[in-house]
Amino acid sequence: MNLEESPLAPLDPARPIIVAIDGPAGAGKSTVARHLARHFGLLNLESGAMYRAFALKALRAGLPLGESAPLESLAAETDICLECGDQENRVLLDGEDVTGLLRNQTVTDAASKVSVHPPIRAWMVRLQQQLGARGGVVMEGRDIGTVVFPHAHVKIFLDAAPETRGMRRYDQLGPQPAVQPEEVIRDLRARDERDRNRADSPLKPAEDAILLDSTSLTLEEAVLAAEAIVASRLSTTV
Ligand code: DC
Repeated sequence: MNLEESPLAPLDPARPIIVAIDGPAGAGKSTVARHLARHFGLLNLESGAMYRAFALKALRAGLPLGESAPLESLAAETDICLECGDQENRVLLDGEDVTGLLRNQTVTDAASKVSVHPPIRAWMVRLQQQLGARGGVVMEGRDIGTVVFPHAHVKIFLDAAPETRGMRRYDQLGPQPAVQPEEVIRDLRARDERDRNRADSPLKPAEDAILLDSTSLTLEEAVLAAEAIVASRLSTTV
């Protein structure tokens, strides 16, 4: 089905709505969040891009990613800003547009490592709460419904089997990628492990989140299911 033909009517963009989308890598969060934002007239904020930008700065500074104190000092002199674009957020790191530098494997791994440190998380959560303070946003990440916006109007936990998520990531690498699918799935499992088992705000569904498993859905079907969840929640809670 064509996503633009979705039958649900857009809601009033002036309403201070917060939609939280959490879930593991490769579950389809970015696609779903982008379409929800467009459909309901909300700002789309990718919290993972903020961790990636900070990880890039830490890599550039040559800091050990396993030590909290130097990272905390670095955070104190770091400014990260998200600007909404049509396809993805523009990410400004201390005023520099780093959007095109955040999706490679080195930064991906580093983001997962810096995000385990509680002071870094506390700082990020503050920034994210400021960004979403006026509402009218869909924010995606790992702890949006549990920590950043525990009072979000709608919480969706988007999941899929690791093999499915890994193959989606592999397909996104384009023709003749330099890695094997098994490698992509292995990296993704390692990241899952870190995200789900860290002591501070591990990845898990909020108690009041609606679980959406996209394993056997196309991303278009997942988007339509998410739109239906948001529309139904908002019609009873806003
Ligand atoms: O969503 P992403 O793949 O761009 O996120 C990159 C890393 O940042 C991910 O490994 C975990 C971390 N992250 C987090 O801990 N909390 C969030 N709200 C978003 C991302």
